[in-house]
Amino acid sequence: MTVLLFGATGMVGHGALNAALADRRVSRVVTVGRRATGREHPTLEEIVHADMTDLGPLADRLIEVDACLFCLGVSAAGMSEADYRRVTYDLTLAVARQLAGRNPDMTFVYVSGQGTDAGGRAMWARVKGETEKALLALPFRAVVNARPGFIQPVGGAVSRTALYRAIYTAMAPLMPLFRRVLTRHYLDTDQLGRALVEAGLTGAPEATLEVPDLQALAARAEPHAQTA
Ligand SMILES: NC(=O)c1ccc[n+]([C@@H]2O[C@H](COP(=O)([O-])OP(=O)(O)OC[C@H]3O[C@@H](n4cnc5c(N)ncnc54)[C@H](OP(=O)(O)O)[C@@H]3O)[C@@H](O)[C@H]2O)c1
Repeated sequence: MTVLLFGATGMVGHGALNAALADRRVSRVVTVGRRATGREHPTLEEIVHADMTDLGPLADRLIEVDACLFCLGVSAAGMSEADYRRVTYDLTLAVARQLAGRNPDMTFVYVSGQGTDAGGRAMWARVKGETEKALLALPFRAVVNARPGFIQPVGGAVSRTALYRAIYTAMAPLMPLFRRVLTRHYLDTDQLGRALVEAGLTGAPEATLEVPDLQALAARAEPHAQTA
């Protein structure tokens, strides 16, 4: 099966890429980003492409894709609503609309966030909620909105956001405690990656996946992972 991945250079995307490369069911992994990850693997094809609003030049390479894992996104911290919306809603929908036209059999998995709410008061939650809703209206085989909460970077995953990097470094000694106490909110990047791949390849029980759903999907994917 073929997996297309956006945001592979980010923290969540790193876990998704690890999981896709390790999954025996995946024969081809195509990343699209404005930078390459630099990873090498027999099943990996990296496409560096700056303008996500025009995927036309990549058309031949973006067909017969079974699952798109959309891990591209930004933190809303310090951003105006207009700037946050430009990446979160406009860019996501621009990519998804182009893919939907060419891949009606594709499952589109969007990395949203815990607490997303189109009618909510927090700006980020509203914009993510509107994005989720608009994606559900597109003609894919299925759209899955994954809502992780607290994510621990593992296995070399690094946030592209300086503030998050500082927070993760400061909190590192507390991670084992968080993992035990925040069970309904906690995923590590490899676990989240496996859940995203599983949702993309086999579908998900619901269109919206909260953390316990993602934990269950990650466990379902484990037998398909090959050790390096
Ligand atoms: N981190 C968390 O704790 C957390 C929790 C819940 C939900 N999420 C969601 O998960 C998603 C990914 O988060 P993350 O932590 O992996 O973020 P990250 O480490 O900052 O990575 C962001 C990724 O998106 C790409 N990107 C951002 N803006 C772009 C643009 N304008 N054009 C092209 N590519 C762009 C980055 O590419 P470059 O490498 O080229 O910059 C990178 O690959 C986000 O939607 C976030 O809201 C994160």
